[in-house]
Amino acid sequence: MKRLMMLSAAALLSVTAVSQSAMAEGVGDAAAGRVIFENGIGDTVPACASCHGMGGMGADDMGTPRLAYQVQKYIRKQLEDFATSKRMDNTMYQMNDIAKALTKEQRDNVAAYVHSLKTPFMGSDLDQMRKDGEEIGTVYKGQVIADYGIPKRGVPACKSCHAFHGRSAGNMFPAIGGQRYVYLKHELEAWRLGATTKSSDDDAARDNDPMGLMRKVAVKLTDEDIANVAAFLTVARPATAGNPSAPRR
Ligand code: HEC
Ligand code: HEC
Repeated sequence: MKRLMMLSAAALLSVTAVSQSAMAEGVGDAAAGRVIFENGIGDTVPACASCHGMGGMGADDMGTPRLAYQVQKYIRKQLEDFATSKRMDNTMYQMNDIAKALTKEQRDNVAAYVHSLKTPFMGSDLDQMRKDGEEIGTVYKGQVIADYGIPKRGVPACKSCHAFHGRSAGNMFPAIGGQRYVYLKHELEAWRLGATTKSSDDDAARDNDPMGLMRKVAVKLTDEDIANVAAFLTVARPATAGNPSAPRR
């Protein structure tokens, strides 16, 4: 009996912890967001899951990103930026229409839902992609860039903003560890182009980063650097055995 009571106290505690983290942002109704994610809305909004996957893990063959447990405020900002055309989707040309078709409340709800997803970590399958004949960067070279940057070319360590293994930092710096390889490469190329070209002139450019923080980094990267750092990040786990502390998600 005593054991049972202890167990239920533990269960109660963990329920409190979950509801606190769900409330951390204080915006959005995850249950309502789930309906949009899985079913879309009538003829106007396709189910997010049809491109981002049921577990929100993204897909390399479609160039879609992982959304599961991404920083909630970051997701909300991206949906807002797509809705106002501050960011252009030139991969499948859908995100701008989709975000415009959602009300702000619906965007907040779906952001709350994807943030709450607990799908197990799964980066891109680089070995399979190599077998399929794709040129893939080198993981260990990418890790050097993520951890130390490229000092002689003035490239800062990705870690200095995105934290250890790109696992995200605060509300401003999204998780890039465990993100899809194809998507990571595409975004880094888009930021690099965005350093010299406006997205309103070329929809392959991305320039919605606050204070140009990301463009300043990407403009210094070569194609090879981009492939290497993307290869490392997609397999980078948010925590390691020796360093178990990972951000609350
Ligand atoms: C037709 C396929 C498709 C559908 C349906 C779709 N997306 Fe996307 N989404 C994409 C693609 C492709 C990208 C990457 C765009 C780019 O490269 O800039 C993307 C990017 C995003 C991003 C940016 C993520 C990041 O890390 O910056 C968010 C957020 C997002 N989608 C949310 C949603 C939500 C919410 C829905 C459903 C309401 C949805 N998407 C439906 C294809 C889709
Ligand atoms: C000075 C801080 C800073 C540094 C250093 C930095 N980033 Fe970023 N990065 C950002 C910010 C801020 C954003 C979010 C932009 C936004 O809100 O749209 C971002 C976004 C990204 C994204 C888009 C994520 C997504 O889901 O679409 C990628 C990919 C990325 N960074 C990769 C890198 C890589 C690789 C490095 C190291 C070579 C790096 N970043 C270094 C600040 C930084």
